[in-house]
Amino acid sequence: MLVAVLKGSIPFLADMLREMTIVPLVDFMSISSYAPDSGRVRIIKDLDIDVSGRDVVVVEDIVDTGLTLAYLLGELRRRGPRSVAACALLDRAARRIVPTPVEFVGFEIEDLYVLGYGLDYAERYRNLDRVIEGDLEVLQGDPDAYVDGLYAG
Ligand code: IMP
Repeated sequence: MLVAVLKGSIPFLADMLREMTIVPLVDFMSISSYAPDSGRVRIIKDLDIDVSGRDVVVVEDIVDTGLTLAYLLGELRRRGPRSVAACALLDRAARRIVPTPVEFVGFEIEDLYVLGYGLDYAERYRNLDRVIEGDLEVLQGDPDAYVDGLYAG
C-alpha cells in the first residue's frame, strides 16, 4: 500500500504508479507543515484505508529535516501494519534533524531550495515538469518571481 503525502508527492506518485507492474492500494495523508514554534505537526487529512496487516510505503517528495516523515512513520506504526518503509524522490540528508531511514531514494541533493514536479514555494510551481533550484531570497521578495521565465514558451 502506498501512502502519499499531499501535496508535493503527486507528480512523483503518478509517474511511479504508471511504472508499477503490481497493483498497490493507494491512499493519501495530509499533515500541517512543521514549524519550530508550533510544537508538532498534525494530521489534516487521514487515510481512508486501514493499514493494519499491510506492507506500507510512504511516498514523499523530499525529506529535509525528517520531522514530517518521522511523525508519519510513528503514526502509521501505531496502527499495526505488517511493515512500513519510506520512499522519497529527493533526500536532503545534510539538513536532517531526526535520523529517519529512507529505504528508497530517487536523488540525494545538496542544501538547496528546490521547486517543481510537485515541490512548491507558497503553493506556486508545483506543475513545473522538472525540479529546479530556487533562490529563497528572490522568492521571499516575490513568490511569483519565476512565473514568467519558467512558463514562457
Ligand atoms: P521535513 O519535515 O523538514 O523533512 O520537510 C518535508 C517537507 O517540507 C516536504 O515534504 C516538502 O513539502 C517541504 N520541503 C522541504 N524542502 C523543500 C524544498 O526545497 N522545496 C519545497 N518544499 C520543501
